[in-house]
Amino acid sequence: MNKSQWRKALKQLLLSMGKEERKVKSEAISNLLFQTEEWKTADCFGITVSRGFELDTSYIINQAWREGKTVAVPKCYSEHKQMEFRKIHSYEELENVYMDLYEPKIDVTLCIEPSQMNMILVPGLVFDKEGFRIGYGGGYFDRYLHSYDGSKLSLAYTLQTTDSLPHENYDIPVDSIITEDGRFK
Ligand SMILES: Nc1ncnc2c1ncn2[C@@H]1O[C@H](COP(=O)(O)OP(=O)(O)O)[C@@H](O)[C@H]1O
Ligand SMILES: [Mg+2]
Repeated sequence: MNKSQWRKALKQLLLSMGKEERKVKSEAISNLLFQTEEWKTADCFGITVSRGFELDTSYIINQAWREGKTVAVPKCYSEHKQMEFRKIHSYEELENVYMDLYEPKIDVTLCIEPSQMNMILVPGLVFDKEGFRIGYGGGYFDRYLHSYDGSKLSLAYTLQTTDSLPHENYDIPVDSIITEDGRFK
């Protein structure tokens, strides 16, 4: 399958998951993340605000705030397909930019440089054993991760993992993937 066929297949699989199953697995994966060295040592990290069928990241964001960690979420600029991370202290600092996509308001949040983050939780639709991922097709994370050298972890349901995926020379793999069944890479 090529990348766009993988995207289509995974969207369908994710949509067929029930709400309760999504909740239970999202919590289980979050709890596994909390046990990792990467989480324990990350005082500032990047994460996306989940939507729709995606793994629910709200447990992680709330736990991070409880632990006093700095939470940074992406702000995308579609003209040049660039992205930056901005620090948020509460969901009030987000705004609905498109469909169910929420991004930080730029007038009340500060930009966090790549060097300030010790961990980025990289989203994706499907992941392979080498850590290669297929996202939504914008290439935003591939561009951003070029200038970042901290930990790159991904959280995914086991159904989002496979042996091998097509990848190009600009695709940047993640260090490790955490699923409800443990570390996949
Ligand atoms: N570092 C980069 N610089 C410029 N363009 C890039 C870079 N990384 C990815 N792209 C472009 O982004 C587009 C989407 O990348 P792709 O890997 O298919 O998407 P995704 O990673 O979201 O699944 C590709 O057309 C690719 O040429
Ligand atoms: Mg890519």
